Amino acid sequence: MLVTMDKILVKARKEGYGVIAPSTFSLELIGCAIEAAERKKSPLILNINLKYDALQTEQDVELFLFTARERALRANVPVAINLDHGADYKTVMRAINHGFTSVMIDASAKPFEENIAAVQEVVHAAHSIGIPVEAELGCVGMADPTFQIETKYTQSATTDPSLVAEYVERTGVDFLAVSIGNAHGPYAKNIVPHIDFELLKQIADITPIPLVLHGGSGTGDENLTKACQMGICKINVGTDLMKIATDKAIAGYEENANKGRLRFLTNYVDGYREGIEYYMDVFGSTGKA
Ligand code: 13P
Repeated sequence: MLVTMDKILVKARKEGYGVIAPSTFSLELIGCAIEAAERKKSPLILNINLKYDALQTEQDVELFLFTARERALRANVPVAINLDHGADYKTVMRAINHGFTSVMIDASAKPFEENIAAVQEVVHAAHSIGIPVEAELGCVGMADPTFQIETKYTQSATTDPSLVAEYVERTGVDFLAVSIGNAHGPYAKNIVPHIDFELLKQIADITPIPLVLHGGSGTGDENLTKACQMGICKINVGTDLMKIATDKAIAGYEENANKGRLRFLTNYVDGYREGIEYYMDVFGSTGKA
């Protein structure tokens, strides 16, 4: 069933588990992400960034959201469709217009007061039609600064716990993305990040709203399981799923080039689904639908 993200995350916070939000960047991945959730009886958040290559025109977005909504409506587990990293008010309104059931406004690179003002504006509009909002305090940068997607991501800033209560109260935001040692994208070889669990505990004690961890990939299963038990309710995962999927597609090709060519896309999609199912167990959402 298609739901707004609060329907999934308020329960997750209360019961102490996390829900995966896979980067869903092509049409083929929508069905297999939902299939993973149905197989694991887990809730799911389709995380969609309007900057993906597949979403360059209004028609692209129209088709993508039509497909996501249709499939989610027929799912037998709760599925939310979330705008990932909405850059500004206009982008967020465009997403809501296309049928997203949750939006992130990412003003994390702005100074505190400007971040608050940007989020307030979105919350005011989105809440008036029942759409919940995610925002970020502190700034989650890139795991490996030499691997740049966008310049914004290179500057990391840890979430300041002394600002959390004021931020949540003044913005009225529904979900808070935190920067506690996590980072986007691939880490340099053999690096596992240090997650500041003391800081996570402080933040979770201050606010009862669901907390979000961006950059779930490469964080380490133990870290992730513990974070989910301590208030992290939504974990964004992109890079790891792409790696598992790519490895599977290439292995199929190397084993038998003829079959591998034909099955390249199917193998990729299967790998992506297996990665999601794996993380549902790590985050504790299996059986929670
Ligand atoms: P990773 O690619 O590091 O998993 O991050 C995904 C993400 O945070 C999308 O917002």
